[in-house]
Amino acid sequence: MPSLVSKISNLFFSGGSSFVVGISIGTSSIKIVELGRKGKSWKLVHFGIVQLPEDVIVNREIINPVVVSNSIKTLINQIKLKTKFVCTSISGTSIMIKRMSLEIKNAKEIQDQIFWEAEQYLPFDVSEVVMDYQVLSRAKDGKTEVILVAAKRAVLESYISCVEDAGLKVKIIDTDFFALQNLYEANYPPSQSEAVAIVDIGSSSMKIVVVSGGVPVFTKDCSIGGNNLTSEIQKNLGLSYVDAETLKISGGPDGKIPSEISDLMGIISENFISEIKKSLDFYSASASSAPVSYVLLCGGSSKIPGLSKSVEDSLNLPTQLINPFNAISYDPSVFNQEYLSNIAPIAAVPIGLALRVGAE
Ligand SMILES: Nc1ncnc2c1ncn2[C@@H]1O[C@H](COP(=O)(O)OP(=O)(O)OP(=O)(O)O)[C@@H](O)[C@H]1O
Ligand SMILES: [Mg+2]
Repeated sequence: MPSLVSKISNLFFSGGSSFVVGISIGTSSIKIVELGRKGKSWKLVHFGIVQLPEDVIVNREIINPVVVSNSIKTLINQIKLKTKFVCTSISGTSIMIKRMSLEIKNAKEIQDQIFWEAEQYLPFDVSEVVMDYQVLSRAKDGKTEVILVAAKRAVLESYISCVEDAGLKVKIIDTDFFALQNLYEANYPPSQSEAVAIVDIGSSSMKIVVVSGGVPVFTKDCSIGGNNLTSEIQKNLGLSYVDAETLKISGGPDGKIPSEISDLMGIISENFISEIKKSLDFYSASASSAPVSYVLLCGGSSKIPGLSKSVEDSLNLPTQLINPFNAISYDPSVFNQEYLSNIAPIAAVPIGLALRVGAE
């Protein structure tokens, strides 16, 4: 898949590094994953997470870069990475992903032609963006299918600065969608005839990517997430953001989720499901690709009790939480099963990012 930045020469990587690192800077927390090469596959070496205070990232733009880079520093001081080259990602309205079908007249000018055609779709001024593309297929009649990704340069640079101010080097900037696709392809058997919908429900966003035949055939970034539930809890129970988060995740003193909160979870889950349904209906009405045959959920909010079952019942599609550890091994004496299932949904994006470095 195209990456927005691949700015460090591969000369630095003699035959591919044995360790790869992915960092996901989310609205509620920063997650970091280090994988080590184990034969032809990968093994989990480190996972780390640090929570971010409210309003440090708003609409997926970094409002307080000092807090973000200090948080990354805190994380890397704790886990002592074996490499400082990393892949990170951006998402939200500062990026645009578009599939285009073009008649390429002169193979040498393919990039110019793609970027020139892309300008008409860009929601931003062309001088403010960074673009990359990948050719998906070339038909005999000259039609070339490409996938284009464009991002606002200023947003991209703010993510790079935060990571580099913490002492790391950004090798690749990817999008959360491609990280999810990477993770899926590494862990699930390939299928040409099926499409899968991967849904990442975070704190401020829900990202949906439909993958079919190795191509992200549909992407959608919706501005709803776990924060909507937290603010409902705050409003209904008169709590601070931090107390509402704690009650939502850990329950009351007895460890149980109070019934008012379960009710609010039910309402918010319905909102998530109706957005997923709308997106998948749109996909099936407009796409020529295979119909979606199952759904994989990830992101912290996919842990809302009963959500996976409700998605399955409402969409009438088999639905599961994604398992990043189908193909990625781990040492059970370092990471126990309970810890792994707890981190699996939030480790999906950073593992997908780390795998991206490994694929370079
Ligand atoms: N056990 C749980 N039950 C319900 N919600 C949970 C649970 N654990 C975490 N969450 C919610 O998951 C969200 C964090 O998920 P995640 O780390 O995937 O988001 P993010 O990457 O920070 O956000 P985004 O991708 O939207 O920028 C928070 O809203 C948090 O309250
Ligand atoms: Mg996220």
